Amino acid sequence: MERTVVLIKPDAVKKGVIGEIITRMEKEGYILVAAKFLRMPDDLLDDWYAHHKDKPFFPELKAFMTSTPVMAMLWEGKDAVSGLRKLCGPTDARKAPKGTIRGDYGKDVQENAIHASEDEHAANKEMDLIFLPHEIQEWKR
Ligand code: RTP
Ligand code: MG
Repeated sequence: MERTVVLIKPDAVKKGVIGEIITRMEKEGYILVAAKFLRMPDDLLDDWYAHHKDKPFFPELKAFMTSTPVMAMLWEGKDAVSGLRKLCGPTDARKAPKGTIRGDYGKDVQENAIHASEDEHAANKEMDLIFLPHEIQEWKR
């Protein structure tokens, strides 16, 4: 079983599609083990997007990501990391096929509705950045 971190981003929060996006993950059989609706602090975003720190779009990305709270969740399931990345679709929502979350709810390369951890290493890092151990639920359906 793998765990992966998902963020429902401000564009999707503003659209009012938090529930629809969660429903898609539930329908795919993933299990929710932690959730938090939070405004991401500045230093958290610096760690989260460390790989983009020197890119020209970094200030704009931070402004976007703090424009509303985000819905942060930890989802569990078989091959959850790659499975949820696939469900999200490619980064640029304009290139994302219909039926993927970004294809259906995103607008462009920044306003792309959702984040899902890139690999297991990123999933562990992001899980530690957002959740305390006691906020993660151990349960079986
Ligand atoms: P994410 O981390 O959000 O799941 O997205 P990703 O792996 O598909 O893409 P990544 O390269 O990690 O980029 C993270 C987020 O930064 C914003 N971005 N903007 N303006 C741009 O060219 C640009 N490139 C990336 C997007 O919001 C992207 O999801
Ligand atoms: Mg990424």
